[in-house]
This record gives sequence, structure tokens and C-alpha cells, in this order.
Amino acid sequence: MPQLAPQVSDLPPNQIRQITEAAWAQPGSLVLSIGEPGFPVPAHVLDAGIATLARDETNYTPNAGIAPLRAAFAKRFHELNGVAVDASAVFVTSGAQQGLHLAMSLLLAPGDEILVPNPGYPTFAMTSRLLNAVPVPYPLYPEHGFQPQLADLEALLTERTRVLMLNSPSNPLGAVFPADLTRRLVELARKHDLWIISDECYEAFTFDVPHTSPAVFDTDGRVFTSFTTSKTYGLTGLRVGALVIPQAPSGGAAASARESGQDALPLLDLQAVTATVVESTYSCVSTPAQYAALAALTGPQDYVSTARRHYRANRDAAAAVLRQKGIRYLDAQGAFYLWADMSHASGGDIRAWVHRFLAEDGVAVAPGTAFGSIGEGWIRIALCGDSTELIAGVSRLPAPVPLPQL
Ligand SMILES: Cc1ncc(COP(=O)(O)O)c(C=O)c1O
Repeated sequence: MPQLAPQVSDLPPNQIRQITEAAWAQPGSLVLSIGEPGFPVPAHVLDAGIATLARDETNYTPNAGIAPLRAAFAKRFHELNGVAVDASAVFVTSGAQQGLHLAMSLLLAPGDEILVPNPGYPTFAMTSRLLNAVPVPYPLYPEHGFQPQLADLEALLTERTRVLMLNSPSNPLGAVFPADLTRRLVELARKHDLWIISDECYEAFTFDVPHTSPAVFDTDGRVFTSFTTSKTYGLTGLRVGALVIPQAPSGGAAASARESGQDALPLLDLQAVTATVVESTYSCVSTPAQYAALAALTGPQDYVSTARRHYRANRDAAAAVLRQKGIRYLDAQGAFYLWADMSHASGGDIRAWVHRFLAEDGVAVAPGTAFGSIGEGWIRIALCGDSTELIAGVSRLPAPVPLPQL
């Protein structure tokens, strides 16, 4: 028999899916393991999708997406970040995941290295492996508030390093980069001639701190930015996101290449190449889904503020329970997850422990190892669902045993 391609045969299974599917198979479980927003989708969004089907607008769209949706993403990007983006730089994708795949397909040749956060969203590594590239985890340590340290990144650079993957607000940590760190990360990329892929899925959800896009500091066109309606508008199954490609006149790291006398890739070429990669992967995003996403972006925005208030209230309530139990956690400043230290219970194997906790206490949480080796002993609690279930689930977490009084 012919063999499967090696890069798919050794892809590790997704530990978040494993625990979540085990919970779904166990009636009555409290599922705090996935990032599925619990709000109903606003009617005007559904109506826009239905109306598109009723008009029988089911043909292909341009590879990059329908013009008004590209313009709406560009407008939102400008409003949020103060960075003017031409709609021609926006490519509509099938969720953020397709946007990540598209960006990596554009930037990574086989054997190229991409720096990915540890702990970090698992598909950063999986997608790069699918492309025969090499994910190199960069550490995020508790003692630094799980923020990247420039020296750690520089220590990992090799001749093959091409891309720095950034994700703020972070899944799974809820950490948000301060603006100054974001600036220094972009400077580091410039200094070492790296591309940046910035996953900004959770840009709508920060609590008391601003979100700063790396694109703000992108002076020579090396930052690709990925968004999604999955999180901002709770439309996970609609599958509509956007990738904003760099739009500096010279296009990407090409600027420094040109300075050093090498061939440069003009922006127009980057747009054309991106469209060709889209054509050969998903061709275009479903037309009714694009119109529904357009309604979400251009219609009333109260869904977003209501969701933000809900996540924040859930964060505060769940954190209060953890504090009262004496469980260490990272004070989430964004996204909708709480990252908590269960090493007192896990016996050095958090992956096995979350399955025991589900079987014995009926609560599913994501094991920290789903996000990288530094997640050993930690769990990720999703804050985006029902508040009562969240507090019931968090209340069942075992507290550390207090040391005996001497
Ligand atoms: C950091 C991050 N990136 C990308 C994705 C994928 O998003 P989408 O459902 O829009 O593909 C997720 C989903 O949880 C995520 O948390």
C-alpha cells in the first residue's frame, strides 16, 4: 500500500478535542474546555445569510472575497488600530485558521523555521508542520507573566528562521502584550529580517488594557494580520475571517532585501500570489457566509460589548473562586480563558488528570499540555459559556492541601 505523507502521519492528536469529545459522551458534564461563545447569533446576521441563499447568490466570489466585506474589514482594522488599510490588502478567509494557513503557505518553504509560542494555540505548530516547515517553540514563563522575552527569541534564531508568530490577546493565556513589547517585537523582526504573522482573533476582548496590533509599528511591510468573526461575533461555524497582507510600497521583508540589492516582491505581486494560493486551497469563502459576516461587521455592534461584559464578569467570578481555594492563576487581561495552575493535583501529568477530573467530577477543562510543554501542570478554563455552569465547574477543582502548621 502507498503510505500517507510523513508530515500528516506524525501529527499529534488535538488534546482539547479529546477531552471535549469525552465530555460530550458523558451526559451531564460541564464543558469548560472549548472556546465556543454561548450567545445566540443576532437576527440581522442570520437574515443576511438567508437572504443571500434566497436570492440564489451561491456562485463563486472573487478569491479575495466580496468587495464590501473586504472594505468592512479594512474599516474595522483602521478604527481599531489607527492603521489605514486598503481593502485590496484584505483577503477573506474561511475562519482565522484558513488565514493562518494562507499566511504560512505564502511565507514558509520546506525546512524553514517559524517561532511559535509555548504555551500557544496548537495549530500554529500543526499548520506549519503540514507545510513541511519546522515550528520552533519560544518559551513564555510564569515568572515573566507569560510574556515573550526578546533574549529568548534571539537565542532561537537560525539561518532558517523566517517567521515570528504572535498572538495577543493570547489563547490559552489571556495575556495581552503591552504596546512597548509589541513595538520591540516588530523591531526584532526588522533587525533579523523576519516576517510576522499576528493572530488577532481576540482583539475585541481586552479588559482595562488596550490591544495594540503589531501592524501599528510595521514600517516596511512585514506584518500579516489575521482576524475572525468566530470570536468577535460568536460565529464559529460561519467560517469567515480575514488576512490582511502587508501593504508597504515594497511588500514585506522585500524592503530590506531590495536595500541589500536582492530581488524585491512588489505589493501587487503579493496580492496576485495570495489570490493564486487562495484559488488552489479554498477558492473563495461561501457566499452566504460572506454576506452574513458583512452584516455582523456593518450592523449594530452591541453583541461585542455585551459579550465583553459577560467574559469579564465570568473572569472575575471564576478568579474569585480560584483565589478563595488558593489556586494560582494568571490574571487574564484579554480573550476569554483563565489559565490556572493545577500542579498540586496533576502528579506531573495534566493530560491524564483532566480525564480523571472529568470522569470523577464531571467537568472538562483543557490540559495545558495541549498548548506546549510549558503547559504541564496548568489548565485552560473557557470563560465564554454560561456563568452558572462555569462557577459550578470551577468550584469542583481541588484546592492545594495546606501545609501543616508547625
Ligand atoms: C488563537 C486562535 N487562532 C485561531 C483560531 C481559529 O479560529 P477560527 O475558528 O476563526 O478558524 C482560534 C480558535 O479558537 C484561536 O483561538
